Amino acid sequence: MSESYLTTPIYYINAQPHIGHAYTTMLTDAIARSRRLMGDHVFFLTGTDEHGQKVDRAAQKANLPTPQFADQVSAAFRQMCRDLKISNDDFIRTTEPRHYAAAQEIWRRVQRAGDIYKGEYEGWYCTVDEIFVPEAQLVDGKCPTCGSKVERLKEESYYFRLSKYEKPLLDYYRDHPDFIRPEFRLNEVRTFVEAGLQDLSISRTSFKWGIPVPDDPNHVMYVWFDALTNYLTALGFGSGDAGAEDRLARWWPTVTHFIGKEIVRQHALYWPAFLMSAGLPVPRRIIAHGFWLMGGAKMSKSLGNVARYQDYTQVFGLDGLRYFVMREMPLGQDASFSDEEMLARFNADLANDLGNLVSRAITMVHRYRDGRVPASPVDGRDSLDRDLVAATAATIESVKACFGEIQVSQALQDTWGLVRHVNKYIVERAPWVLAKDAANDATLDRTLYHAADTLRIIAALVDPVMPDAAGRIRGMLGLDSAEPWTSLQVGTLAPGAQLRPVDALFPRIEKTIEELRGMTTSNESTPAPTAAAATPATPAPAAPAAPAPAADSRISIDDFMKVELRVAKVLEAEAVPKSKKLVKLKVDVGTEQRTIVAGIAEAYPPDQLVGRTIVIVANLKPAKLMGIESNGMVLAASPEGGLPNLVSVDPSLPAGSRVR
Ligand code: MSP
Repeated sequence: MSESYLTTPIYYINAQPHIGHAYTTMLTDAIARSRRLMGDHVFFLTGTDEHGQKVDRAAQKANLPTPQFADQVSAAFRQMCRDLKISNDDFIRTTEPRHYAAAQEIWRRVQRAGDIYKGEYEGWYCTVDEIFVPEAQLVDGKCPTCGSKVERLKEESYYFRLSKYEKPLLDYYRDHPDFIRPEFRLNEVRTFVEAGLQDLSISRTSFKWGIPVPDDPNHVMYVWFDALTNYLTALGFGSGDAGAEDRLARWWPTVTHFIGKEIVRQHALYWPAFLMSAGLPVPRRIIAHGFWLMGGAKMSKSLGNVARYQDYTQVFGLDGLRYFVMREMPLGQDASFSDEEMLARFNADLANDLGNLVSRAITMVHRYRDGRVPASPVDGRDSLDRDLVAATAATIESVKACFGEIQVSQALQDTWGLVRHVNKYIVERAPWVLAKDAANDATLDRTLYHAADTLRIIAALVDPVMPDAAGRIRGMLGLDSAEPWTSLQVGTLAPGAQLRPVDALFPRIEKTIEELRGMTTSNESTPAPTAAAATPATPAPAAPAAPAPAADSRISIDDFMKVELRVAKVLEAEAVPKSKKLVKLKVDVGTEQRTIVAGIAEAYPPDQLVGRTIVIVANLKPAKLMGIESNGMVLAASPEGGLPNLVSVDPSLPAGSRVR
């Protein structure tokens, strides 16, 4: 059994929480839950970062005394944790006395190490990011990170001797190649340090909303010096309390900081340097995830293009939101937050795949065996049973490994591979046919047992991401508590167990996208971000740098996103009478089945089309071809004068997946 100290960033309280904050908090929560299931002792910290000029100004704008404003907005972040069922062990506010003590203690230690001196800062400051920006890094006179206007500062300031830590930091990066995930972020920080470090201004005199510098109360600490220390505060650092030393010794060496990619420098460079100076160990790991984008730019309260988590939990439920964000964002990559995507995923993965499996498996045990789990003796199993058992055992291992590597999206993909496997197993076995003849009793028993037992495993594997759904599935299976992953194995569902009635887990959401948009208004009604606001570090899809001139035929990302390309499965295909080229297809697009007429008959005989995974334009207006209404278009590449070749994607992709 080991210890895991997990932290989120502490969030600025200049505005209400949005999906971006909710995401990091839910990701850390999913990892915390998975570690607990693996038997670890976990200490999970989140909270609010309340000092600095940005918050002070937001309070003035709201016409409230800053402490009162801080109380209100911090409470909204605390509420977010409750709403999202975050399993944090502590919630820290940097305005708490315990944090003042910790920040002043680390300052004193750094000072004793001879790493603080007084000088004058003259230069640029970005209040949105709370960072000092060297003149050479300005982009068109604006902040290179967020595109906001910077301000000129000239004031007395204490400096931290960051330059002294160039070599120790590079040595540390060299000796700890797994310090940051994804790995390329470590290379970025290393390159930055190799280019040479300037000493860092760590105090301000032009406003008062901060922690006073020890013995010089005209200065308040630079908000990042104050904020980063929160991770130590929560362990009792600087409190002088009995037991604080033990808590620090127990948890600090195990810490993993979960952050967004824009604050890697503060965590991987400033923070280790402050800690080295204070004689404390450097954090073990930093996990830097990508951005949620809206309209091609980072979702951010400063830009105003934010989605409220409450709108989405209301429509999709908490598990619906948690599933979507965890599935949609592989570690380190950016992802678009879109209503269309969420609706498609909800209906395809949750309502269709998992929801159907749950109701089928439980209903069948009720219908054919009076709700009692039958037995499946190992000897009697055939290859279909053995394949399912092997796939289940392999999925348990791969999901554990994925969570260990913070690859939550992959863990869910692997789990859904198993969900589809059981669904297929049930279809192949056709219990409704087996039930007609008592001679099939043993096969029916095995089928029902494996369906229910695999469902138990699936519930355990989705538990970190969808705690409510996992609990409800367990409830239907008559199980009361979560199963630890350390002892999770196939075949331990007790024969004879009494199942409870089916409880509809994820009813399909039968709303049009327009109806959905009406319910998530803050998403669509917020002003579109300006091009200058797109974060330069963000890879495609990025907002265009400037509106394209009229003669330019290039389209914007928004134009492209209007075309809804989706993965579809061909269910049926038949030649269109009297046509050489046309074939009529019935395809599954995840949320529905539809007919598409495609001009591919010369290249593909109908029987070669059934079962294929193809890509279609899903939002094309219907058109009649040879009297048949076609609802969509199949994508195919055609060489000059040659036959069309269907665009294909990995067949494991679920129908309805968006192609971008
Ligand atoms: N207060 C600092 C952090 C101090 S940590 C010692 C801060 N706060 S913040 O309110 O701006 O929150 C930033 C964090 O919120 C990001 O690092 C990320 O975890 C999360 N996100 C905010 N917007 C986001 C997206 N658009 N996408 C993904 N995560 C985002 O920086």
